[in-house]
Parts: sequence; structure tokens; C-alpha cells
Amino acid sequence: MSVNFSESKTKENLMRAFAGESQARNRYTIAAERAEDGGMLTIADVFRYTADQERAHAERFYGLLKDLSGETVHIDGSYPIDQQDTLPELLRAAEHNEHEEYADVYQAFGDTAKEEGFLETASAFYQIAEIEHVHEKRFGALADMLESDTYYNSEKVSQWMCTNCGYIHEGSLAPKVCPVCRHEQGYFLPYSMACYKLP
Ligand SMILES: [Fe+2]
Ligand SMILES: [Fe+2]
Repeated sequence: MSVNFSESKTKENLMRAFAGESQARNRYTIAAERAEDGGMLTIADVFRYTADQERAHAERFYGLLKDLSGETVHIDGSYPIDQQDTLPELLRAAEHNEHEEYADVYQAFGDTAKEEGFLETASAFYQIAEIEHVHEKRFGALADMLESDTYYNSEKVSQWMCTNCGYIHEGSLAPKVCPVCRHEQGYFLPYSMACYKLP
């Protein structure tokens, strides 16, 4: 079936996705401030890093609406309020929302786009769904570590990296203060979570 874009469900789904991604970006930026307030600077970094990726998703979906430039698109939708008081709860909420996007929402939007004949849009939904799956797992892993108190504290020998100076500490505890740059423990990241770690 091939559908006129301006009369399509896909146009509305793209606008829903743009709204959802835009809100996710702001929710994560706000969550990053909460993490920073609590001294968990590397968790704040993960929220900001993910917020930037949500912005990129928003831009991709917005770009796919370009042919309707100058028009407005009416949508209805449901969006979460996540202002939980603790960091593990904020991470669990983020994990949950990412899971819904990955497992339900973007699969359904992709299927509709495919049925309506918008193959590029369908593949954007499916590809971004896979990224949200990674986001889901990353937030979940961080929540697991905070809940089990293993973010700075490991039963076996482990590594942490100071995100201020790059010092890598090996041991079962992250240092209270970086021995190189004297920054506090909040700057330490479990090295397994580091973006540019050595292969
Ligand atoms: Fe996203
Ligand atoms: Fe995401």
C-alpha cells in the first residue's frame, strides 16, 4: 500500500517520535543535574551523553518531516513524568522508557511506515529502536550497580578511571580522592563503562 505522506499515520508517528525524543533529551538533562547535585558526576555524564543521542534521534525524525515544512501536525500521545527522588529510581524509569521505545513503540511505528510505503522512515524507526535498546541496557546496568552498591566498590579487583585526568585505578574500591588530580570520587567511572577505553 502506498499512502500520500500528508495523509499518512507515519507523519503523525514521526511527530510523536520527535516529541518523545525531545522530551527524553530534556528529562535526561534534568536527571543529569540531579545526579550532579548528589556528587555522582559520571552518572550525570551518562545522562548527558544519552541526552545528546536523543537530540540526534529527534533531528533524524524531524528531518523526515521536512516535506511538510510550514504545516503543523496534530498528535495525541502519552509522555512520562519521571521526577523520582533517587538516582536508582531515575535510572530505572529511564530504563523502562527506553524499553518501551525499543520493544513496542518504534517497532509499531516502523511496521506502519513499511505498510504505508515509507521505507526510509521504517528503517530509521527500526535502527533507532536498536539504539534505545542499548540505552535501556546501559541505564539498567547503572541502576544495578547503584542498587547493589558496586559502582565504586567491587568484590573482585576492578578498574576505575578518573574522568578528570584519566588516571586508571586498579583495586576493589574506587579511590575517595584521585591520587593524581585530587578530584573527588564522583569523577571516577567504572572502566568497563568508559567510552574510549583501550581495546
Ligand atoms: Fe532516542
Ligand atoms: Fe534513548
